[in-house]
Amino acid sequence: MTSLLILNGPNLNLLGTRQPEVYGATTLAEIEADCAAHAKTRGISITFEQSNHEGALVDLIHDARGTHQGIILNAGAYTHTSVALLDAIQSVEIPVIEVHLSNIHAREAFRKKSFIAPVAVGQICGLGAIGYTLAIDAIFDHLGKKSASGA
Ligand code: DQA
Repeated sequence: MTSLLILNGPNLNLLGTRQPEVYGATTLAEIEADCAAHAKTRGISITFEQSNHEGALVDLIHDARGTHQGIILNAGAYTHTSVALLDAIQSVEIPVIEVHLSNIHAREAFRKKSFIAPVAVGQICGLGAIGYTLAIDAIFDHLGKKSASGA
């Protein structure tokens, strides 16, 4: 069975109460439940994780090797700063879809830069919590195409 890691970075544990006007009112637990239900309809299993620590996120990406076929990553603020996460993604060679609840391109200038984007299959941002389930569909489609091409 296809298995996905859905990985969330710093401050995303506070979703629901953290700047709801920017990030919405949905909690991370609700996003996890939506992802689990959506993945089930696709016959996919998910592991949902959150950490406020950059090194812990790097470790979780490393540990995905051999276990997960794809990663959905909302790296939070580390998106804009972390060469370590970029290197980790490149090292494990697992396809990554980058997700953001807010539209990072319509906010402060420093949020337009993503260290994840150059090594991601694609980016979904600005659509709120639905971005995670769209990312499940996107990675499902990507993995199907990869196996169809024998890659
Ligand atoms: C975020 C956008 C980032 O700029 C911010 O630092 C976050 C959340 C989002 O989901 O919109 O923590 O990744």
